[in-house]
Amino acid sequence: MAVNYTQAIRGQFFDITQPSDDPAAIAEHARYLEDGLLLTEGGHIVGLYNWSEGSQLLRSTDDVADYRGKLIVPGFVDTHLHYPQTEMIGAWGEQLLSWLETYTFPVERQFESEAHAIQMSAFFLNQLLSNGTTTALVFGTVHPQSVDALFRVAWQLGMRLIAGKVMMDRNAPDYLTETPEQSEQQSRELITRWHNKGRLNYALTPRFAPTSSPELLAAVERLRTEFPDTWLQTHLSENPQEVAWVKSLWPEQKNYLGVYDSYRLTGRRSVFAHAIHLDDDEWNCLQRTESAVAFCPTSNLFLGSGLFNLQRCQQQRVRIGMGTDVGAGTTFSMLRTLGEAYKVAQLQSFRLSACEAFYYATLGGAHALDLDSCIGNFMPGKEADFVVLDPQATPLQRLRDSHCRDIYERLFVLMTLGDDRNIWQTWVNGQPVWSRDKCEVAA
Ligand code: GUN
Ligand code: ZN
Repeated sequence: MAVNYTQAIRGQFFDITQPSDDPAAIAEHARYLEDGLLLTEGGHIVGLYNWSEGSQLLRSTDDVADYRGKLIVPGFVDTHLHYPQTEMIGAWGEQLLSWLETYTFPVERQFESEAHAIQMSAFFLNQLLSNGTTTALVFGTVHPQSVDALFRVAWQLGMRLIAGKVMMDRNAPDYLTETPEQSEQQSRELITRWHNKGRLNYALTPRFAPTSSPELLAAVERLRTEFPDTWLQTHLSENPQEVAWVKSLWPEQKNYLGVYDSYRLTGRRSVFAHAIHLDDDEWNCLQRTESAVAFCPTSNLFLGSGLFNLQRCQQQRVRIGMGTDVGAGTTFSMLRTLGEAYKVAQLQSFRLSACEAFYYATLGGAHALDLDSCIGNFMPGKEADFVVLDPQATPLQRLRDSHCRDIYERLFVLMTLGDDRNIWQTWVNGQPVWSRDKCEVAA
């Protein structure tokens, strides 16, 4: 039997073949091939086979990219981060609201400059790729040029990326606030320019309820009605002072999520970052509206925001993606983020399995973004975005890995000890775009 392919890749493969909001079902759909062959064509997956059967499909074994000894998984999906905050990662001493005032807003001001935005976009996307992240849902700043710059660089790389201009019209410095009319018009122009252009999509991005007037959220609602296939990203119940502030700003609403829900900003393509301090009604609202949450463990620990209740979220069958939340988060590495997620669960006497963790970082994240028909695993027709991991990047990892008895132990050690040193190569659209030996993005 002959099949058309342009790339043939041999190695160990792990993925989850079907999305599910039921954690018990995730492991049932796990697939591990000890000696596998992946064929791609035109940036899409043709199929993943056991070497013994797949090798029969090859024109010749000469043109196989041989990654035996490496572990290949779908590209990581980061469901929440801020590219303009890259340069202020690891800022000392503050919790959310004073952290925003002290560090974040002054740094975001610089994205008025298009040259700065382009320079930081290139740096940021290189960080994603060097950490094995091939898709992300990203905040820009209030400046439309920040998003133009990011999309332009992502377009050149052929990455699947969702991003949006921050919308905010109160409770922030004058230099970062706008009118609801400006915000609506600039967002509309960006949607027209970039939404559904190749692999790029637009997300409406009201920063969070405290920086939004009722008029601003009404503008977001109008845009969502006008462009119903756009995404929406914002923050929800990250910090107790923030939650109290929202209560005082919106006394007529029954809770924090109620503010967004009353403007019909919940739903399938809505991603709420953090969701730590929720009441029963808010959990039920997330479930009923099929909204997703971004679990950002390094950020929640770093800012002292609180512990995300993963067990409750699973019980409610709410879609979950992982977020690094740079610059409040302390790493671009999804492996490190999974390791911290495990610890956040441990602090609540809940055990996160390696299988679930890798699901959330790949297909589960894609499902949270409503992109699971395009990315997240090695099923035929999916976009060929994947990462080649080296499980033995350091002497300690080599020693520990040699004691692993199965793939789950191996994955768990990777998420516990691993970081960007374990990323050997990152492929986007069926092409290698980042390699450890070159340490740079291929042009
Ligand atoms: N809430 C509103 N803005 C932000 C932000 O930039 N980072 C985080 N972590 N939370 C926010
Ligand atoms: Zn954030």
